[in-house]
Amino acid sequence: MSALRPVPFPDELLDRVSVDALTRGFALAGDPIPIREVGAQGWSLSDLSPPILVLSDAALRHNVRLMADFCERANVELAPHGKTSMAPQLWARQLEAGAWGITAASAREARVIRLAGVRRILIANELVDEASIGWAAEQLLDPSVELLCYVDSVKGVELLDRGLASAGSVRPLRVLIELGHAGGRTGSRTPEQAMEVVERVRRSARLELAGVAGYEGTLCRDRSPGCLNRVRAYLDELRGLASRLVEDGAFSGEVVMSAGGSRFFDLVAERLRERWPSDVPVQVILRSGCYLTHDSGVYERTSPFADEDADRRFHPAMEIWGSVLSRPEPELAILGFGRRDVPFDEGFPIPTKIRTASGETVAVDGRFALTALNDQHGYAQVGSDLPLGVGDLVACGISHPCSAFDRWRAIPVLDERDRVWTRSRRSSEPVAGITRSSAGARRVAPRPRSRRAGPRRDGRRPWTAPGREARNAPRTRD
Ligand SMILES: Cc1ncc(COP(=O)(O)O)c(C=O)c1O
Repeated sequence: MSALRPVPFPDELLDRVSVDALTRGFALAGDPIPIREVGAQGWSLSDLSPPILVLSDAALRHNVRLMADFCERANVELAPHGKTSMAPQLWARQLEAGAWGITAASAREARVIRLAGVRRILIANELVDEASIGWAAEQLLDPSVELLCYVDSVKGVELLDRGLASAGSVRPLRVLIELGHAGGRTGSRTPEQAMEVVERVRRSARLELAGVAGYEGTLCRDRSPGCLNRVRAYLDELRGLASRLVEDGAFSGEVVMSAGGSRFFDLVAERLRERWPSDVPVQVILRSGCYLTHDSGVYERTSPFADEDADRRFHPAMEIWGSVLSRPEPELAILGFGRRDVPFDEGFPIPTKIRTASGETVAVDGRFALTALNDQHGYAQVGSDLPLGVGDLVACGISHPCSAFDRWRAIPVLDERDRVWTRSRRSSEPVAGITRSSAGARRVAPRPRSRRAGPRRDGRRPWTAPGREARNAPRTRD
């Protein structure tokens, strides 16, 4: 892992985000409260309004530490996928624990990550449109920024090359050749196609081949022996391509090998860290994202650490609390959250706790399950003898954190006594909640009126690309 380093506290982003009575979950907030001051309100879970999605500080800490320890032991770097949370405070935790940088799925996400002060960004995708390529060219103006993106076709390389030329790019953009798999998404489909793409990269003065990338997470959905073998075989193909390129002298320095979501990162480390035939230096960068909050569903079942003891497995850090709105039939309870509030693409939420009107908390222990979700209602099939009354609260773990984060603009982080996190403002820890990408990007990075935007009529400073504002940007050595 990279050495521990100071992490930017993403003031620039967070200062623009507040919660008020209209923010989901914060009905009691009243007037707008800047997100960094929410922790100072002295709120706890009971001051929030259901349905409310919350994060556990203890579980986040545990997961960040566990993954950092794994990376250290396995001698791999981590660029956690930023798209999972799009939460600057959570990226800060990951960077503070030694993450090499942050991964983005698009130039738009990379802009938000850059605005949070992060200087090492891996865009795990191709850049083919003028705006994205222009933004990348702008980042290259700042020598302290390390930016990587993928290429997977000759046409794509030509677009990138031309776009960088017309944006007046000042140094080569480092690219990873992406090797995909049949039926997967992006990525050259065969090593031969990939070699052709690399040939075109080598003819460009504006691009530098940095390494090889792939994503094994779309190959298989569980850890059955057959799946593990398919993943290993694919990772060996990535190795094979990199070895061919090394023999061809395609790299001028260290070779970057990047793969790894949250399901098979152990195999990525095993296969890509194995001794390389030549003594070329190889840097392995994992891009796992969901490990951060983990979940109570798909990742709980398929994590590499699923069979470990509690202190050596990830802990679900996210849960939704909803009220029992109705018991309209003896074996049916209707909960006050639905598809608008929780993900359902990888299974329905999993009930874990009941909090009764008297404040007593009881574990559900599998005694009931959700069987359907409407937009704003959850259907719980319960035994007629289950003491679950209208007005009681039910907590559920979720399955698939990415699509849970997508639905919320601010998510409180609770301590072990269900208090909304209250560390000092000066800390690099979040005081509460997160910044959603859509809200963040829209509010903090409006398009400039023109490339040479002059003073605005409203007297406010025009937005300037972060590369151009390097002197004002939060200083960091990440
Ligand atoms: C290219 C790529 N890398 C890494 C990840 C992170 O995987 P996970 O969500 O399992 O952590 C994803 C997730 O979709 C991905 O698309």
